Amino acid sequence: MADQSFTDALNEQISNEFAASQQYVGAAVYYDAETLPRLAAFFYRQAVEERNHAMIMVQYLLDTNEEVRIPDIKAQQTRYDDVTGPLRMALEQEKRVSDEIYALFKLARDTGDFRAEQFLAWFVKEQVEEVSSITDLLNVCERAEDSPLLIEDFLAREQIGDKGQDPTEPPAAGGAL
Ligand SMILES: [Fe+2]
Ligand SMILES: [Fe+2]
Repeated sequence: MADQSFTDALNEQISNEFAASQQYVGAAVYYDAETLPRLAAFFYRQAVEERNHAMIMVQYLLDTNEEVRIPDIKAQQTRYDDVTGPLRMALEQEKRVSDEIYALFKLARDTGDFRAEQFLAWFVKEQVEEVSSITDLLNVCERAEDSPLLIEDFLAREQIGDKGQDPTEPPAAGGAL
């Protein structure tokens, strides 16, 4: 029974990760339409990362012989009042996901589900990085709000959120994109 409730909770998180992916496509489209290609690229890449998070969770359920549910797609925001809007949304979103991951981790620990706890450890680490890179970008964006091209220059220089291959990343269903 305890296993089942973790499966339900993880299926819910799969839905959250796919929703985050769609939200980030929405943010990328906004920046692309504003001709801010580096910010757009950052969010297109984040969208793929979120999709991979969902697929890593799918692979875990497959590996543990549990039922996988693939969620419906909801419409997401593609218009914002200013260039910091998507980053504020993203920071709020990443903090929420961190809390969701901690709740999953706690559920695994409280039910003595060692394999689930071990699986989730990577996501705990991942959220530290995600919150950190979005916070950095939001700081820069707020400082240079009136001249978004400075943010574009910053992104061209600093490669925020582009961490390359992570050998500890768990396998994603169908292979990571
Ligand atoms: Fe994620
Ligand atoms: Fe994320």
